[in-house]
Amino acid sequence: MAVRRSSSFLPYCFPLPLLLVILVAVPGSPQRTKLTTRVHGPAGSGDHWWKHAVFYEIYPRSFQDSNGDGIGDLNGITSRLDYLKDLGVDAIWITPIYPSPQVDFGYDISDYTAIDPQFGTMADFDHLVREAKKRKIRVIMDFVPNHTSDQHPWFLASRSSQDNQKRDWYIWRDGRVPTEPPNNWLSWFGHSAWTFDSTTRQYYYHYFYPQQPDLNWRNPEVREAMFAVLRFWLRRGVAGFRLDAVSRLFEDPELRDDPMLPGTNAYGDPNIQHKYTDNLPEVHALLRDFRKVVSEFPGDPVLISEADEPNIAELTKLYGAHNDEIQLPMDFQVADANRLSAPLFRTLFEEVEHNAASGQPYIFFSNHDQPRQWDRYGDGIHNDAMARLMAALLLTMQATPQMYYGEEIGMRTTPPARKEDVRDPIGKLGWPAEKGRDGERTPMQWDTSANAGFTSGVPWLPVPESAKQYNVAVEQSDPESFLNFYKRLIALRRSRLALRIGNYAALNPNDENVFSYLRRTSDDRHAIIVALNMSPEAQFVSFDLSALGFFAGALKTLLASPSGGAEVQPPGQVSLPPYGVFIAEIIPHVQ
Ligand code: NOJ
Repeated sequence: MAVRRSSSFLPYCFPLPLLLVILVAVPGSPQRTKLTTRVHGPAGSGDHWWKHAVFYEIYPRSFQDSNGDGIGDLNGITSRLDYLKDLGVDAIWITPIYPSPQVDFGYDISDYTAIDPQFGTMADFDHLVREAKKRKIRVIMDFVPNHTSDQHPWFLASRSSQDNQKRDWYIWRDGRVPTEPPNNWLSWFGHSAWTFDSTTRQYYYHYFYPQQPDLNWRNPEVREAMFAVLRFWLRRGVAGFRLDAVSRLFEDPELRDDPMLPGTNAYGDPNIQHKYTDNLPEVHALLRDFRKVVSEFPGDPVLISEADEPNIAELTKLYGAHNDEIQLPMDFQVADANRLSAPLFRTLFEEVEHNAASGQPYIFFSNHDQPRQWDRYGDGIHNDAMARLMAALLLTMQATPQMYYGEEIGMRTTPPARKEDVRDPIGKLGWPAEKGRDGERTPMQWDTSANAGFTSGVPWLPVPESAKQYNVAVEQSDPESFLNFYKRLIALRRSRLALRIGNYAALNPNDENVFSYLRRTSDDRHAIIVALNMSPEAQFVSFDLSALGFFAGALKTLLASPSGGAEVQPPGQVSLPPYGVFIAEIIPHVQ
């Protein structure tokens, strides 16, 4: 049984050397576990690549501009592939690069099988995929099935007359009375989800902006047209898709009103429960069909779903009853925990790592829709230590990890200071309660030159002041930088079998402050423990690994934050500074 007691005598200031004394040995156990310290042979061979890959989200407008127009582009991404390779990334998910009026910065698509000229050409895209492949980096496209742009030729045809052949490709209804929408459904982006179209005198439905009309997935022609889109990109060599907003794909055919909830939202609308527009059972049959389509192609293509499911039961359903839907459903429970709490993370990881479908979890902390983790989890005092701790959590779990560009250099969220500077429409609509998503989409910070090396022109969003301190060039030359911490973590995940393919088990289940876990291979030859102090006070932790079937002499430190401390620890206790990280390999003998 593990024991922890908090320390009142350790110094609290940084940098605090990590004092490591480990109690792990129970000699004489009849079933001694043989442990080795090196990885032998290819890791995870015969297994799915996406279980072991590190994914990296790129917001292309903001990553690297190659032609001086202030907007990132495909050739810019290609020029940074060596950086990504060096970081240890295995797959890049690129948010939408298709032709689009850019009302929702690409999530309003007007042609699913072309490239928006501001991002480059199809030849640039093919070049990117080829160059990525040379570096063993896979490319994941963003597939937006719920809605098109209102400028898509399908919608232009659909809205042209009530008897147009494409009328039923979207969701058109008469008003409840001519001047009122068909029901009370609200857009996620504010106000009614119905917009009146004066040409044909009906309302069309849009879960998001009015410029993003929802496709009617009950129409077989829509299904075939969209399946063809998946095939088009798979033929061009992509390794899979991130599926946008999948829980919104179907709506109640009877158009029942959603239940009202107390209060109002940032847009001044009454709160409602999206009961009749979210997570309808029909979604699952469609996800199975998506899976069948991608499975027609070699290379084990992957589907990653974006759906902020309310609990583990709903999240688990996305794997499918026979693991025939989504391989990697994004886990918003973990992403949005929004506070460092050992009991909370223990519960969340217990649920997802041992989910009923035995599906592979997919975790992340930042993306293009929410403030960066630095700002959501930071307490203003220990932010740096907390961000390192979260990096360790992300990259030492069994779950597949996804990073967001700039996370590895500690980029901050920098929202606009004035309403007139806002680019994201939800910020314009919801200001000041909702400032929009510009803050987490600022240009990647490459170096200390003008515009942080992102563009030679005027960047589409201003480069934050903090870029002078947090950028790739500066951090590359500082061994203690964020960037080098991420690199070491990814290298460990890649090189250590216990982290790469090992099982997950929580340790010290009653510890209120330190989240500890064991990763070990099923043959018990490789084992690593991770201890994360999620409290602002120094803590001691000890581990009774004999109870887990191990006979071991010591722990060998692989990585710690703050760095320091002995490399190999004799039996005793682990001392963790506030928000400290300790990652160690169990070894049979102290040298
Ligand atoms: C989710 C995307 O991540 C977000 O950026 C977008 O605005 C909505 N879906 C609508 O497509």
